[in-house]
Amino acid sequence: MSLNRYAILIGAIAFAIILIFDPQYLKIFLVIFIFALLLMSEQFKAPLKFIYSCFLKPIGNNVDQRSRLDSFYEDQAEVYDATRGRLLRGRYTMLKVTAEQLRKQMTNTSRKPIWVDIGGGTGWNIEKMNDFFPIEQFDKVYLVDLCTPLCKVAESRFKAKGWSNVYVVCDDAVSFKLPKIEIDTGKIDLVTMSYSLSMIDKYYPVIDRIKTLLCPNGLFGIADFYVSGRVIDSNIQVQKGYNCNWFTRWFWQIWFEFDHISLHPSRRNYVEYQFNTIKCFNGRNHFLIPYLVQIPYYIWLGTLKSSVSTSLENSFEILDHLD
Ligand SMILES: C[S@@+](CC[C@H](N)C(=O)[O-])C[C@H]1O[C@@H](n2cnc3c(N)ncnc32)[C@H](O)[C@@H]1O
Repeated sequence: MSLNRYAILIGAIAFAIILIFDPQYLKIFLVIFIFALLLMSEQFKAPLKFIYSCFLKPIGNNVDQRSRLDSFYEDQAEVYDATRGRLLRGRYTMLKVTAEQLRKQMTNTSRKPIWVDIGGGTGWNIEKMNDFFPIEQFDKVYLVDLCTPLCKVAESRFKAKGWSNVYVVCDDAVSFKLPKIEIDTGKIDLVTMSYSLSMIDKYYPVIDRIKTLLCPNGLFGIADFYVSGRVIDSNIQVQKGYNCNWFTRWFWQIWFEFDHISLHPSRRNYVEYQFNTIKCFNGRNHFLIPYLVQIPYYIWLGTLKSSVSTSLENSFEILDHLD
């Protein structure tokens, strides 16, 4: 007998007992029973786990970041991809524009590119990138992530795909070492970060490290939540839809801080201060509730300030927003 049938049987017996002895508890019983049914149903398991892990489960303030991430994601690692499609918007578009730019830059070389996805989680980006830039056409692809349960999901995903040039590095974005490369300085063609820049505690050293990793025309792609500052930093190239109003700026910063996610403008400002913008999109994610919910997010593609990439002269906003 399936779990659902057990739930119905037990529920029916309990219901009969309550009706016989005390019908006033009927409402409470019904609520608990419906909740139990939802918990047992496969269809509702993923969203309920997501709601519990994101909004109800205490994360703890004093533990180190690795333990905090492990505890946050351990219950939801298996349902992670199924629950993030609508929340983490812009990843697909970021991969598409990044792949297009990468292809342009690799036209005059026989060398295969090397890609590092920092805070890559379950490996969703790498699997999707295959639609735009086949993984076999990379020399090496690295997924760096500090969270063991998510790294395990990524490892089995890549094993199932049979990709022998993809490596999972379960380490901190600040200090990771890339296997199979002796000196990584100036060797990386592409670095991406989707929804991880806002989650990494020590972001200054990570952004500085990316600068040293990238080869002269190397690319850096980001998709993430953000809020603008009250005063726009004069170093950044302001694009359409960038500004956020007072409520948006404060509400979303406070909301995400419960999950140790920082939307403070300093992160994006520092990236745009250190790199040149090639392409950019500022959007609002109406997650589940149109108009009322407007989470600011951005897709950004940049390169080193010293880059001689010709496409910089044609720098423009991302128009065809896919996801
Ligand atoms: C919201 S998830 C995004 C995962 C993935 N990039 C995606 O788009 O689905 C943020 C990721 O950043 C990782 N992360 C947070 N801090 C990190 C750090 N210091 N070093 C490496 N990864 C980190 C988390 O473990 C998590 O997988």
